[in-house]
Amino acid sequence: MNPLDLTGKTIMITGASNGIGRSTSVYLSRMGARILAVGRNQARLDETLSALEGTRHRSYALDLSDVEPLPAWMKRVAAEVGPLYGLVHSAGMVLNRPLRVLTYSDYSAILRINLDAAVMLSKGFRQKGVRDESGSAIVYLSSVAAFKPKPALAAYAASKGALISLARTLAHELAADRVRVNCVCPGLVQTNMVADLNEIIPEEQLKALLSEYPLGIGTPEDVAYATAFLLAPAAKWITGTALVIDGGYSA
Ligand SMILES: NC(=O)c1ccc[n+]([C@@H]2O[C@H](COP(=O)([O-])OP(=O)(O)OC[C@H]3O[C@@H](n4cnc5c(N)ncnc54)[C@H](OP(=O)(O)O)[C@@H]3O)[C@@H](O)[C@H]2O)c1
Repeated sequence: MNPLDLTGKTIMITGASNGIGRSTSVYLSRMGARILAVGRNQARLDETLSALEGTRHRSYALDLSDVEPLPAWMKRVAAEVGPLYGLVHSAGMVLNRPLRVLTYSDYSAILRINLDAAVMLSKGFRQKGVRDESGSAIVYLSSVAAFKPKPALAAYAASKGALISLARTLAHELAADRVRVNCVCPGLVQTNMVADLNEIIPEEQLKALLSEYPLGIGTPEDVAYATAFLLAPAAKWITGTALVIDGGYSA
């Protein structure tokens, strides 16, 4: 038996229409998983679907910031496709805004998609009939910003730190239901999110930041491999952890 094999496992991935979520969907499909790809933009979700290996994958275009209906929605999804083995919450937003100009509306928009959606998706996942009762796993995309934040990232870093506390809490609470809950904490990864940073951070500051990465910045695949490991049977004794993947940035 290959402990990294995910053949036949149904895994929901949010943020699957772009960046890390897309690469994770592609890699997990290569490991045999059936992907339920979630994002807002149907055209980008279709691009993800066309890159997946195997068949029976599905996509769902919805705004996860509307958090209250998520548990009922997941129940309907599982009624259609069968129980889910995994949930990966990769949908998220970053905001570079000093506290001086940060509005409550900015802050709550970040918290809503990065954290509140994770809570309500997890609530949906743990319901009977939604998760695979023989064992299942959740992975949240936290960030190294949870441990080593930079100025102007208050809302983002707070949301990512809270995801680690959420995973640690649910690791205890859901162990009896055979659900493992972990985080991955990437450093800078080359995606649209970082392309946007390029526009916001002055070139010199960005250069200085990049020089703090002994192994350079990461690729979405680097994160996909770590997420796949935490989902797979190979990690059956791992729950409540936060796996840093940052090319040595926080070392
Ligand atoms: N890139 C990095 O350097 C880095 C580092 C550490 C952690 N992370 C974390 O990793 C995760 C993925 O980042 P990324 O770089 O892959 O980001 P990305 O390329 O900007 O992709 C973000 C994804 O989130 C989805 N999304 C955003 N808001 C949504 C909403 N309200 N409802 C549904 N879907 C929504 C987007 O969907 P649409 O495209 O359909 O709008 C997209 O698929 C994030 O949680 C991020 O904080 C990233």
